[in-house]
Amino acid sequence: MSNPLDQYRDSHHEFQHDITGDLNKDPFVVFKEWFSIAHDADELEANAFVLGTTSADQQSSTRILYLKEILDGQLIFYTNYSSQKGREIAANPKVSMLFFYPKSSRQIRVEGICTKTDKSVSDAYFNSRPRGSKIGAWASQQSEELSNMTELTDRVAELELKFPNEVPRPEHWGGYQIQPTRFEFWMGKKSRLHERIVFDRIDDGWKMYRKNP
Ligand SMILES: Cc1cc2nc3c(=O)[nH]c(=O)nc-3n(C[C@H](O)[C@H](O)[C@H](O)COP(=O)(O)O)c2cc1C
Repeated sequence: MSNPLDQYRDSHHEFQHDITGDLNKDPFVVFKEWFSIAHDADELEANAFVLGTTSADQQSSTRILYLKEILDGQLIFYTNYSSQKGREIAANPKVSMLFFYPKSSRQIRVEGICTKTDKSVSDAYFNSRPRGSKIGAWASQQSEELSNMTELTDRVAELELKFPNEVPRPEHWGGYQIQPTRFEFWMGKKSRLHERIVFDRIDDGWKMYRKNP
């Protein structure tokens, strides 16, 4: 039987452009620049990232989420607080994020401390969502076992009756904010001498240095 991964063996991205450039000393400025480069390059879902968490017994796990806002130096996403990731963040708030931009051959790694946002931030975002998403936030006991899809659609039908008008934000749903302690910007180069630039948070700002690729 042929190996479905054969086609990827020895395949290298042939990068379209060289992407060296002066990096500003504020990692948030670099982050926003790279984000808009990704957007301009028509990267699919430029705001999607992998969130890495670790359980109380040290098992790591990952999943994709959407970055929704950057507020006061905090990277914000929204989810169910009772989910697997919610439980793991409660046990260990040290998390990691990974953004991957294949068309522009870039990767951004972030490490930081994750806490719940203010309720006002969660309320503002929740209230901006369509009704179906609001009902879904009540209906889905995210990460819990579900016997069958009917159980979920029945719950949705009940909630549609329970909340005929406004849907309030459930306590178990809201924002998390990640305060970065480290950023790493990786740029793929045609020369294969890829660049890695790290920013470590120090008392009065950021320490920037390069790493071997
Ligand atoms: C493109 C994409 C975007 C997603 N965005 C979110 C999100 O913003 N919030 C969320 O709770 N789940 C999102 N999910 C679902 C998560 O990957 C995950 O399945 C869910 O949050 C449960 O994770 P957990 O069991 O580890 O807590 C997204 C999935 C994909 C593929």
